[in-house]
Amino acid sequence: MRFDVLTLFPGMFTGPLSESILKRAIQAGRISVVLHDIRAYATDRHRTTDDAPYGGGAGMVMKPEPLAACIRAVLAMTDNDTGESAPKPPVILMTPDGEPFTQRIAAELATCPRLVLVCGRYEGVDERVRAALIDRELSIGDYVLTGGELAAMVVIDAVARLVPGVIDAESAAEESFSDGLLEYPQYTRPAVWEGREVPPVLVSGHHGEVAQWRRRERLRRTLERRPDLLARAVLTDADRAYLRTLGWRVPVAGGADDGTRIATDRDGADDGTRIATDRDG
Ligand code: ADE
Repeated sequence: MRFDVLTLFPGMFTGPLSESILKRAIQAGRISVVLHDIRAYATDRHRTTDDAPYGGGAGMVMKPEPLAACIRAVLAMTDNDTGESAPKPPVILMTPDGEPFTQRIAAELATCPRLVLVCGRYEGVDERVRAALIDRELSIGDYVLTGGELAAMVVIDAVARLVPGVIDAESAAEESFSDGLLEYPQYTRPAVWEGREVPPVLVSGHHGEVAQWRRRERLRRTLERRPDLLARAVLTDADRAYLRTLGWRVPVAGGADDGTRIATDRDGADDGTRIATDRDG
């Protein structure tokens, strides 16, 4: 899989791409990341890439011409992996007003042979470039970063690890979110650390009991931390019965009760997060 990244700060990508799993994936040829410096497409003497917003206001806006020229040049490039007849890759703008990025979107993007990621800077990107050349807009969360670079790295990381051969297939299938539940707690040696013991069932050698304990821990943790996820999780009758012992109320079909109410009542943390979560279902 090939990622083309359009940025004013290509140097920001050096660290994340030259360590650990991404480094190995690149070395093994499973993924490639091609960085494009938007400034190289500015044509004036000062290589200007931003300008003041029409109508006034704080900050600077990314100028349309260099960014559009860069996107068009990248779309015109092919490589041995994608070939001349490859379909046009999606052009994705990283922006805080984009669609919330989720594991589901990561899995969807991992099926594309190539992605073009555009990193916004300054106060934003001229709206006409968005209308003309951007296919999709993604946000990695409800906070504002100094630019789209870190967000693009998050997307590359989350997508790359789903590309076959980048990590162990079993880990990808077992992890949080892939089946709608959070992970169970993990322990390793020593069996007692600073007076804290590993749950005895994990050292009991009873595989069936370990599996049941882990399943219940996942259910308990999801109910406590992300009850909104339970509405879309794949649950057995035994799962539901266990959740009920923890105070879970079965969501009414078609209703707005997705279990969130329980956690909201308990921790008073209804900050609107649920709205973003519901949108991606
Ligand atoms: N650029 C600035 N903030 C961002 C965010 N939260 N997600 C994606 N791109 C961004």
